[in-house]
Amino acid sequence: MNIVILAAGMGKRMHSDLPKVLHPLAGKPLLAHVIETARSLSPTRLCVVYGHGGDQVPQAVKANDIAFALQNPQLGTGHAVMQALPHLDSTAPTLVLYGDVPLTSAATLRQLLKVAGQDNLAILTVNLDDPTGYGRIIRQDGQIARIVEQKDASAAEKAVTEINTGIMVIPTPKLKEWLAALSNNNAQKEYYLTDIVAMAVRDGVSVVSAQPGAIWETLGVNSKVQLAELERIHQRSVANSLLEQGVTLADPARIDVRGTLTCGRDVFIDVNCIFIGQVTLGNGVTINANCVIKDAMIMNGTLVREFSHIDEAEVGSHSIIGPYARLRPGACLGEEVHIGNFVEIKNSTIAAGSKANHLAYVGDSTVGARVNIGAGAITCNFDGANKHETIIEDDAFIGTNVELVAPLRVGKGATIGAGTTLTRDAPDGALVVTRAKATMREGWKRPEKIKK
Ligand code: UD1
Ligand code: CA
Repeated sequence: MNIVILAAGMGKRMHSDLPKVLHPLAGKPLLAHVIETARSLSPTRLCVVYGHGGDQVPQAVKANDIAFALQNPQLGTGHAVMQALPHLDSTAPTLVLYGDVPLTSAATLRQLLKVAGQDNLAILTVNLDDPTGYGRIIRQDGQIARIVEQKDASAAEKAVTEINTGIMVIPTPKLKEWLAALSNNNAQKEYYLTDIVAMAVRDGVSVVSAQPGAIWETLGVNSKVQLAELERIHQRSVANSLLEQGVTLADPARIDVRGTLTCGRDVFIDVNCIFIGQVTLGNGVTINANCVIKDAMIMNGTLVREFSHIDEAEVGSHSIIGPYARLRPGACLGEEVHIGNFVEIKNSTIAAGSKANHLAYVGDSTVGARVNIGAGAITCNFDGANKHETIIEDDAFIGTNVELVAPLRVGKGATIGAGTTLTRDAPDGALVVTRAKATMREGWKRPEKIKK
């Protein structure tokens, strides 16, 4: 089939410079959600109609499988579909989706496509307690006869609660004929796509309907209030599917997944955690409260304590991270590594059993196994112009407040005494200490405050 996504509308009530369909839901533009769902149906042609916001829309979502049709000015939904016609395959039906309706499930659309077959016009409809604002489905003897827009409806028509979600499947050759015959002789002076329904009935084409699995699948975003509502609905449904897979969530209302979170067995996630991009948690992983984890892999049995921030990093099994740890891009930790509070690791490999438990910075480093990095120790990896590498071999001990001025190597089992500023390689097994001599003056008197 063909899929046309209407995304030219203005979105005035968003009060934003960003085109409405580019506002993010779960970290991704509304339109990208619709495109993803459309792709899952394997259309032969996929066309996005854009207009308001200009090139920003195609720039944000462009891909080889998408044709873009410009609609300028925007003269209504029928006029919008007209712009897509040159991109469509006439031998297949056309499914119309809206770029600002992000949560329609593929299952619902398959159901609609099924009732449409090759020759019927199929409309996705729902019954709403308050149908205000929507096009009403007008039936005669149970059969759909036409759609009337809110602004054109009589009082009796306004009382109808079955509404047009806007999502339709239309036989494409007929669509071309009907669109060519549309007029804008209505309250909004627009070319309504919905007017083709009465034309279909007139031409003896069956008009059928299907209903979505849930009403929220058809809700659109016109304001930040509606965007926030759909965000919560989406997050709750992601949380439910995690629960169904056996993940324990301290509160399913307080987790946000902006991407894909893949979990093993017996994973526990405490409140207020945000997962961004592709995150994988192994069996028995625990994520304590208030962690932000992006594009990361955390292996079996690891504990991530409160307020940790993990970004493009890998953590080996049975490790303990945080509280207040920061793993930056390229941090790659082995098994049973401990990274404690206010420790930052960037672009560094840390082998099994090593520990940096307090207030340290490790950047552009290769750290061996069973290394201990003391409180306040840092790698000085940046000379103001270039980044340099630090190598710390197995079983080394880096004392408190040590500065390792890269590039350098700390040999196997070497001990670097507290406060040392190391500027050259330390040999295997050596003790290195650079320390100013302490000066002692016994009986020294502190200056006294002068009275004025
Ligand atoms: C439309 C339907 C109405 C339905 C409602 C569901 C028509 C005439 N009316 O109403 O029956 O109940 O959707 O939400 O079809 N768009 C364009 N170009 C345009 C106009 C709109 O691309 O010139 C796009 C918008 O970006 C949006 C979609 O089409 O994604 C619907 O537009 P909107 O203005 O929200 O339609 P309504 O008038 O609310
Ligand atoms: Ca709308």
